[in-house]
Amino acid sequence: MRGKLMVGNWKMNGSLAANASLVTDLLAGMADVKCRAAVCVPSVYLAQMHSLLAGSSIDLGAQDVSVYASGAYTGEVSADMLRDFAVRYCIVGHSERRQYHGESDVTVASKAQRALAAGITPIVCVGESLAERDAGQTEAVVKRQLAAVIHANGHCISEIVVAYEPVWAIGSGLTATPEQAQHVHAVLRAQLQAATAHADRVSILYGGSMNAANAAELLAQPDVDGGLIGGAALKAPDFLSMLKTASR
Ligand code: PGA
Repeated sequence: MRGKLMVGNWKMNGSLAANASLVTDLLAGMADVKCRAAVCVPSVYLAQMHSLLAGSSIDLGAQDVSVYASGAYTGEVSADMLRDFAVRYCIVGHSERRQYHGESDVTVASKAQRALAAGITPIVCVGESLAERDAGQTEAVVKRQLAAVIHANGHCISEIVVAYEPVWAIGSGLTATPEQAQHVHAVLRAQLQAATAHADRVSILYGGSMNAANAAELLAQPDVDGGLIGGAALKAPDFLSMLKTASR
């Protein structure tokens, strides 16, 4: 079966010195960690992290990828470039990119396609805003977001990771209850089951103010296969504690 996957999303945080210190502390605590672990770092630090994580049990991830293969797209980073640094995962469609960079469902689906073609596992983020939840649209929103990725990626869909991140829970200190998370995860699992015979292989992560105190009850839900963790992944003791919880 799937086993838990815990992914740190560093967002636009870090420095050469801070990254080195964080990773040194993480690597020192990995002996008891049995779950899969990864950190998604700003692209300028991929070379540094590629070298620091080499041979370790922490996989390297990126936070975004271009929809284009190469060429005149100033500021963009291609999937093949990520591959040069042994990037294993790439977040696509994070709500901050949907919100601040206008990424549509179709754009997110193309990014997932680029990652898959380069042998990188896309971590496809879906999630509703508070207004959408209050209007009873949660299921419709996450299903629409995932449907675009299923449509564009056909039989490869069993190779993706999905992250359910309610927008109202990200960085807010508000977490979905375990029941709320499980409900949406089950909806997403059913949608994947309708698209592939291998839906059981797809890890569905929860993200949104997951921390060392609430991780255990979220991870206990049958369809919560791990976490996508922002703020708490920047503190080595907190992230390690969550990795150990996920290893039980
Ligand atoms: P958070 O961020 O854990 O700080 O809420 C999660 C995310 O945005 O991936």
